[in-house]
Amino acid sequence: MTEKLKVGLIFGGRSGEHEISLLSARSVMDALDRSKYEVYEIGITHQGHWLSGPEVLKAFEQGQVEHLEAVTILAEPGMGKSYRWSEGRALEMIHELDVVFPVLHGTYGEDGTMQGLLELADIAYVGAGVLASAVAMDKCLFKQVMRANDIRTVDWMLVLSTELQDDMDEVISKAEEVATYPLFTKPANLGSSVGISKCRNRSDLMEGMMEASRYDRRILVEQGLETAREIEVSVLGNEDPQASIAGEVVPGDEFYSYRAKYIDDTSELHIPALIDKEVEREAQWMAVEAFMAIDGAGMGRVDFLLDQETDVLYMNEINTIPGFTKISMYPKLWEASGLPYPALLDRLIELAFMRQGQKENLVRMYEDAS
Ligand SMILES: Nc1ncnc2c1ncn2[C@@H]1O[C@H](COP(=O)(O)OP(=O)(O)O)[C@@H](O)[C@H]1O
Ligand SMILES: [Mg+2]
Repeated sequence: MTEKLKVGLIFGGRSGEHEISLLSARSVMDALDRSKYEVYEIGITHQGHWLSGPEVLKAFEQGQVEHLEAVTILAEPGMGKSYRWSEGRALEMIHELDVVFPVLHGTYGEDGTMQGLLELADIAYVGAGVLASAVAMDKCLFKQVMRANDIRTVDWMLVLSTELQDDMDEVISKAEEVATYPLFTKPANLGSSVGISKCRNRSDLMEGMMEASRYDRRILVEQGLETAREIEVSVLGNEDPQASIAGEVVPGDEFYSYRAKYIDDTSELHIPALIDKEVEREAQWMAVEAFMAIDGAGMGRVDFLLDQETDVLYMNEINTIPGFTKISMYPKLWEASGLPYPALLDRLIELAFMRQGQKENLVRMYEDAS
């Protein structure tokens, strides 16, 4: 019998999407083929403590983590292992890991920080690397990369929170030159629609920017679409990524707000999206181009806004660790494209190893070619 692959599943985390991560991790846990994989669970608390032990995910779901023990992964190559802190703060190796699947959404999980740790530790991991994670997380830098690659986005402007304090009037007149009402204001580095406002006039805009500045130093003011449809495409692969069919989210709120995403449960997913074949092909093409432009790897859910009046498609964002429950858009789009959930997990793990293998073959030191 061949030995099972040791998969480290990391979930929870310090972001506002901690609970969503637990839901995603539950689906992944239940679907990983135990004849192939031995799963080692690590939960990260809201405060950032790493815990492991028996039935970690269950303990997190029930909010009873007292019996778990503190563990860590060391940022040192060749130590692809997890360690427990024993008495006297000594480290004891408890588990070897072949690959890590960070099922973490948002800050400190999807933004390149966790990926940085895994890079230093030299462990294969699922999904985007440091660069793509960080670029996809910052809505402003992401749009700049899209513009540099001729991928259509709405017009936008970056505002720093210090600029709001220094000269609000100046910021407002600049914003009104960039785009027309309704404007959207967003913190650059957040997800789940937190801190996002639709602004219909100057006083809304002022409030919206102040609200966004509670969450980030970097704020986006962008052209709002009055009648936006939300089209999403799943991308899978490394160097030669593939796009799924397109899906559509029909939010149960005025826009796809936090409430519509997680509270009301009134939003509907339409798979496939009821759009023209031509628009779908364009979305797939843009999704792959955007994924490659940010150096994506493994997976990415690419979200678009489709202007209902003009049928023009705008790239909105890429989520490098998208929601991963069995009813989430990312896996559902693959299922509808012919790739069932467990096979999708196999493929993502395979892609993680391929990426790691490429890194191992790179020259790291100066070699005299003469
Ligand atoms: N420019 C826009 N025009 C119209 N609706 C928008 C615009 N930007 C965002 N929205 C709405 O707000 C939601 C959340 O914005 P998004 O940029 O996707 O942030 P998040 O990362 O929080 O999901 C979108 O799904 C969409 O419903
Ligand atoms: Mg979004």
